[in-house]
Amino acid sequence: MLLLSLAALALRLTSNLVLSQPQDDATAASRPAEVRTNPVIYEDFADNDITRVDDTYYFSASTMHFSPGAPILRSQDLVNWEFIGHSVPRLDFLDDNAYGLVNSTAYIRGIWASTLRFRPSNGKWYWIGCVDWVRSFVYTADAVDGEWTQAGIINNCYYDCGLFVDEDGNGGDKLYVAYGGNTQLSVAQLDDTGTKEVSNQVVFTFDVGREGNRMYKREGFYYIITDVPGQSELVLRSQNPLGPYEKRTFWENVNSPIPGSGTVVQGSLIDTPEGDWYFMSFAWAFPEGRSPVLAPITWTEDGWPQANFSGNSWPTDLAFSLPTSTGSLQSWTGVDKFTSFGVEWEWNHNPVNSAWSIEGGLVLKTASVTDDLYKAKNTACHRILGPKANGTILIDVSGMTDGDRAGISMFRDLSGYIAVQQSGTSRNLVMRNNVNLSPQDPGGTCCWSTTNKGDDIATTEVELSGNQVWLRVSADISSSGSKEATFSYSTDGNTFMGLGNTLKLNDGWQFFMGYRFGIFNFATRALGGSVVVKSFEHVSA
Ligand SMILES: *[C@@H]1O[C@H](CO)[C@@H](O)[C@H](O)[C@H]1NC(C)=O
Ligand SMILES: *[C@@H]1O[C@H](CO)[C@@H](O)[C@H](O)[C@H]1NC(C)=O
Ligand SMILES: *[C@@H]1O[C@H](CO)[C@@H](O)[C@H](O)[C@H]1NC(C)=O
Repeated sequence: MLLLSLAALALRLTSNLVLSQPQDDATAASRPAEVRTNPVIYEDFADNDITRVDDTYYFSASTMHFSPGAPILRSQDLVNWEFIGHSVPRLDFLDDNAYGLVNSTAYIRGIWASTLRFRPSNGKWYWIGCVDWVRSFVYTADAVDGEWTQAGIINNCYYDCGLFVDEDGNGGDKLYVAYGGNTQLSVAQLDDTGTKEVSNQVVFTFDVGREGNRMYKREGFYYIITDVPGQSELVLRSQNPLGPYEKRTFWENVNSPIPGSGTVVQGSLIDTPEGDWYFMSFAWAFPEGRSPVLAPITWTEDGWPQANFSGNSWPTDLAFSLPTSTGSLQSWTGVDKFTSFGVEWEWNHNPVNSAWSIEGGLVLKTASVTDDLYKAKNTACHRILGPKANGTILIDVSGMTDGDRAGISMFRDLSGYIAVQQSGTSRNLVMRNNVNLSPQDPGGTCCWSTTNKGDDIATTEVELSGNQVWLRVSADISSSGSKEATFSYSTDGNTFMGLGNTLKLNDGWQFFMGYRFGIFNFATRALGGSVVVKSFEHVSA
C-alpha cells in the first residue's frame, strides 16, 4: 500500500514555512546597505522591461509559448521580487490551432521582448508585444495585478519594443514605441487609445542588427537603449522623440556575473525615488535560462548614462543602499498544495480549461491522445530556482485509465521524465529520456517540431497497489554546473529510489526558454482518465 506519510509531509511543510518567513524585520530606514549577489532571481525571466510607479518597481518578461504569458513581478527594492500576475491571460494570437496544441505547435512563438508601462493620464496599464513577426498585440488593465484584456491589434511588428508615455506636465501625454530588430530602429506614435498607430519612422540606421529597444526621458532628452546581441549595449539621445539621435556605446563585451554564461546585454534603465540609477540586464545562462542581473550606473556631466564595470565585469556582489522590503514576500520555493493554481504556474501552450480544476489538489484530466510529450495539452510548468533544485510531486493516480501516462518532466527542447503508466489495470513507473524538439531550419531557431519522442529507459516491476506516489526531478541547471537531471520516486515520501539514467541538459540558447518542471497527464489510448497532483515541492540549493 502506498500510504501518504502524514508525519513526513507535515515535517517538510513545517521546515518550508520556516524558510518562507521574512529573514529580518528591521525597518527600511534603519537597515544598512546589504550585500546581495547576482543574479537577483536565479530563474528564467528574460528580456525584462522594468518600470517604476512611485516607490514600486514592476518587471515584465518574455514567455514565448507558455500561457498565461508576460509575467509581472513587483518589488520595493529591485532585489526582492514577488510574482503578481500576467499581462496576457491567454495567447489569443489568431492561431488557436498552434497556440492550443490542436493540430500544430507554437514552440518559441508567442511572447518575445515586450513592454509594460503605467499611463498616469488614464490610470491604465499597457502591455505591447510583437507576435509571430507580423503584428503587435496591446493588452490593458486598470490594476496591474487585476484582470488584463486584449485591447487591440496593430498591423505592424514592434519587434523588441519599448513603450514610452511622454507626459506633457498638464495631465496629457503622447505614446511612443521604439522598436526594430535589424539595422533600422524606428519610433511609432500611437493614438490616444494606445491601440492604433498614428505614424512610424526610422530614427536611426546602424551597421549591425540590434534588439532590446527601450525608450526613456531625462532632463529634456529622449534616450533609446538598444543592444547588439552578444556584444554591446548602445544609447541614442535626442531632444525630440523622432530624432535626430546621436549614439554612444554604453558598454561592450562585459563579463557575466554568472560563471559559464555569455556576455550581458539588453534590459532596463531604472531610476529610484532617491535619484539613483540602475540597469537590470540578464545573463544567458543555459540550461537554466536568462536570469536578471543588476548593476548601479551613473550619468556623465554631459548627460549620457555610463557603466563603470571594474575589470569590464558585471558586478557579482552588490552593496545596496536601497531600502529593503519590510512586508513579507512569498518564498520562491516551498510546498504548493494547490489550493489554487498559483500565479507562478504557466501552461505549455493554451490549456483546455475544462480538463483541469482545483479539487483536493490540481486535477489533470487527460486532454490529448498522443504518445508525444510535446503535443500533450495541459502540461503545468514551473520555473526552476537555480543553481540546483529538486521538484517533487505527490500524485494520486486512482483515476488513471488504460494507456495514460502522468508524471513530472524536465521540460525543454531536450526533455526527460518520470511517470506512472497505466496498462490495463496495472500500473508501473517509467523513466523516459531523449524526448527532443528541433528547429526545422538546421542551426536556426524556426518552426520547432518533435524529432524524437524518446525512449523508455527503465520500467519498474513495482506494482503500485496504493493510489499515491512521489515523483522527483533533481537537476543542476547552472551554466557552470554538471547540467544533469536525475529522476526518482518514493512510496513513503522519505526514501527516494532512482529510476533510469541521467538527462544531459541542453545548454544551447536557440530554444530561448530555460528548463522548467513540467507536470503532465496524457492519454495514449483514449480520454477519460485523470490524476490529482496533491502537492508540488520546490527545493533549491
Ligand atoms: C486543424 O484543426 C482545425 C480545427 O479542428 C481545422 O479547421 C484545420 O483544418 C486543421 N488543420 C490541419 C492542417 O489539419
Ligand atoms: C568607477 O569605479 C571606481 C571603483 O571601481 C571608482 O574609483 C571610480 O570613481 C568610478 N568612476 C566613476 C566615473 O563612477
Ligand atoms: C534532492 O533529491 C535527491 C534525490 O532524491 C536527494 O538525494 C537530495 O537530498 C535532495 N535535495 C534536497 C535539498 O532535498
